[in-house]
Amino acid sequence: MIGRLNHVAIAVPDIAKAAAMYRDTLGADVSEKVPQPDHGVSTVFINLPNTKIELLEPLGEGSPIAKFLERNGDGGVHHICYEVDDILAARDKLTADGARVLGSGEPKIGAHGKPVLFLHPKDFCGTLVELEQA
Ligand code: CO
Repeated sequence: MIGRLNHVAIAVPDIAKAAAMYRDTLGADVSEKVPQPDHGVSTVFINLPNTKIELLEPLGEGSPIAKFLERNGDGGVHHICYEVDDILAARDKLTADGARVLGSGEPKIGAHGKPVLFLHPKDFCGTLVELEQA
């Protein structure tokens, strides 16, 4: 069911510093910072030949990554995103198998303008999983 690894998201306390490290130290292709107020984060995308890294910094009150950064002061891997051909079919199969979908269970439009869902980390080896419609 799952296809390509779309991205690995890393939550960071200082996205400018993290972006500079990826650009200058690791020599990566780094995008501009984009505020995503609907998602409570700012993002920077690191474009790698085979996938992307998504840097996330909290934006505004009640950011969904604020608690994660309280526990992980230096930042850390926050979620991984797999592509699926049909996000509703994927959701229905997963919930039938007992997996928990976060929130209302209805896909939202994610940072790339495509429908996404998040799956409970306790059901997936301690890893928050994002599914994105390919
Ligand atoms: Co993501």
